[in-house]
Amino acid sequence: MTNKPRATVIVDRDFTVGETDPRLFGGFIEHLGRHIYTGIYEPGHPRADADGFREDVLELVRELNMPIMRYPGGNFVSGYHWEDGVGPRDQRPVRLDFAWQVTETNQFGTNEFITWCRKAGTAPMLAVNLGTRGPAEAREYLEYCNHAGGTAWSDLRRRHGYPEPHNVRLWCLGNEMDGPWQLGHMTAEEYGRLAAETARIMKQFDPTLELVVCGSSHRGMPTFGAWEWTVLDHAFEHVDYLSLHTYYGRGSEGTPGYLGWPDHMDRFIEEAAACADAVAAKRRSPRRIHLSFDEWNVWGNSGSHRLTEPWPVAPRSHESIYTVEDALVVGGMLLALLNHADRVRVGCLAQVVNVIAPIMTEPGGAAWRQTIFYPFAQASRYGRGVVLRTLVTSTAYDAPNGHGFPHLKTAVVRSPEGDALTIFALNRAVEQSLALTVEMRAFAPMRVAEWTVLRDDDLTAANTRANPARVQLRPMTGATMDGSRLMVRLPPASWNMIRLASVQSIL
Ligand code: AHR
Repeated sequence: MTNKPRATVIVDRDFTVGETDPRLFGGFIEHLGRHIYTGIYEPGHPRADADGFREDVLELVRELNMPIMRYPGGNFVSGYHWEDGVGPRDQRPVRLDFAWQVTETNQFGTNEFITWCRKAGTAPMLAVNLGTRGPAEAREYLEYCNHAGGTAWSDLRRRHGYPEPHNVRLWCLGNEMDGPWQLGHMTAEEYGRLAAETARIMKQFDPTLELVVCGSSHRGMPTFGAWEWTVLDHAFEHVDYLSLHTYYGRGSEGTPGYLGWPDHMDRFIEEAAACADAVAAKRRSPRRIHLSFDEWNVWGNSGSHRLTEPWPVAPRSHESIYTVEDALVVGGMLLALLNHADRVRVGCLAQVVNVIAPIMTEPGGAAWRQTIFYPFAQASRYGRGVVLRTLVTSTAYDAPNGHGFPHLKTAVVRSPEGDALTIFALNRAVEQSLALTVEMRAFAPMRVAEWTVLRDDDLTAANTRANPARVQLRPMTGATMDGSRLMVRLPPASWNMIRLASVQSIL
């Protein structure tokens, strides 16, 4: 098709998708590369606090405002013995991590993670190892973390200097157990039984825990769909969330196709929800399994995974340098999450520091924001509230990975107080601006309070150690209100955040 990119969006105050669960804007920390060592933990760094945590990194993590943080993996968890990472540091064993072929010193473990979470203003989401271990170890880990005291495991935690239970509410039952790369991967039958039994045991300790069962590692897995069905058929009564993971990389589809991938994420979410609901239907159950999109990001465009020496300690690996183009795709993925706020309750950007991450650090040196930091921080700040249904009419384009991608991808969120509206808008027309009209129905009179844009004439522009602020959000002018209608021209290939405030309110 097209000609001149344009779109109209209709929103009505009372037509809603649902309220965003704040945990939609979570993160994921794995023992991988320099995520932990020289990322979040670096004793001796000029900005390290008394616990060895980098305060410059903590400040940036707080800016991302991630209410939940998944740990310790990822593939790492499937070979992990949590006991190795607790107790006096000088007595912790050094182990080989077979998942990433590196050496793990265990100088950072569960208790350090919990302490770091408290400082970062986030809540822990722990994963148990169901790859090379099982329900017995999961039970002991839970007792160590969450029981007040008076038992061997809980008293061990107390002796380790943590008198109060960690009270971890959200737990993952393993990681990507369908993947042949996973240590101890299984068939859906095997995993479904194991997950159900582990969940049942964990809920006998505390029925109010929330448990996430592994869905497919990504939508392209040959067992996608059948895996969800079989696993949930075993575990439906015992678990609360089904996990989804997705990473998009720029392939031969070019920029327009790359920008289209978030529409596949929409479909993935809807299909996973359909699988969960099919299991509910079989039982005639009104219960709904919600979704935990606990790994998502763009990945693969830069940052070597190859190790230059055998079994290194915290090597530089997976250090993707993100471009403006990557940030636009991340923006699109955030829109997919927001528009499914009724089903996706947990989301974890994978990962947070150095490893495919919005924050980069240098050992002994600076920390800075990558391009993808900006759309995430904005969505995390202004995406809380009630997501509105959007009726979108947009010009569209075709790409090798899909037909009819609308030029406009958008989500509209009403603030919790109801006095502001945030329009997130991605213009996927790479070389042309997009004329956007948003018609707001049943709202009190609004004014444009703010419009920021992330774009660059060079879509490969990035923030680097040498130039850490090359790409930033820029304020824009020129968005106008005509009664209840917003009119704005979005620049080519741009991520936009437009805030409308009720004219009576003072923001
Ligand atoms: O986030 C990096 C890796 O990607 C995780 O360890 C794994 O779960 C996924 O395949």
